[in-house]
Amino acid sequence: MSDRATVSDRAERSGVPAAPATRTAAVIPAAGRGVRLGPGVPKALRALGGTPMLVRAVRAMTASRAVSLVVVVAPPDGEAEVRSLLDEFPLAGDRTEVVVVPGGATRQESVGLGLKALPDDVGIVLVHDAARPLVPVDTVDSVVAAVRAGHPAVVPALPLADTVKRVAPRDGADATAPETVTGTPERALLRAVQTPQGFDRRTLDAAHAEFGKAVGEGATDDAGMVERLGVPVVVVPGHEEAFKVTRPLDLVLAEAVIARRRANDGF
Ligand code: CTP
Ligand code: MG
Repeated sequence: MSDRATVSDRAERSGVPAAPATRTAAVIPAAGRGVRLGPGVPKALRALGGTPMLVRAVRAMTASRAVSLVVVVAPPDGEAEVRSLLDEFPLAGDRTEVVVVPGGATRQESVGLGLKALPDDVGIVLVHDAARPLVPVDTVDSVVAAVRAGHPAVVPALPLADTVKRVAPRDGADATAPETVTGTPERALLRAVQTPQGFDRRTLDAAHAEFGKAVGEGATDDAGMVERLGVPVVVVPGHEEAFKVTRPLDLVLAEAVIARRRANDGF
């Protein structure tokens, strides 16, 4: 246990409540292969506008003054490469600490490994996909602000453009057969969720302790695990530039956003 725990134990014994741990850290799961993007190096290590996606995602977190530590969860066989990329593309003038840990077989497992690397004095955790390299700092800040305001779990999200259908599970092996529609949820009540998702650290730790050993793909989103704990989750406005780079067409969009920023900022 750290000195801090000793100090707060003593404070509790003396009847003084322990100071809340309010340091904010970001965990960046970056251990995926990027199968839907196509063959090549792991998705997070691919360059966009000359800069690796992961480096852009780290910078997007350190752009927020609230974030003082970033934990990058690297592909298990790509830890050294991630470290050398972070050296090659330093965080100009920023003193945020960046730590690299190896990831796991699913996103959920990778996030769990990132959480284990957090020091005791972190009270708020952001979990941010490396695959969302272009999230604006205002979105990051509004998530942090909502957690600081007392919400234990905060998700940035946008209304949907497309209507969504629910379909029956496929029973046959024929993946090309038409699927049966079983319902149409009311679009106005649906939200497409993004990252960074922000959490009271103890709440997210508890969710991972409870559901972290799920089989299969595991949770595709961290707030979903917190919902299963019965803890309320709230949505704040997301941003269209916080989209996830998933398929080849997303690379075209990402390059266009970067080109537009360069034209607007003059660099
Ligand atoms: N991720 C991770 N560990 C895994 C799988 C995913 O850290 N075992 C991360 C990815 O690196 C990504 C984020 O979770 O930053 C969101 O996942 P996704 O967009 O699905 O990325 P990939 O899993 O890499 O892509 P695909 O599913 O197409 O293989
Ligand atoms: Mg995936």
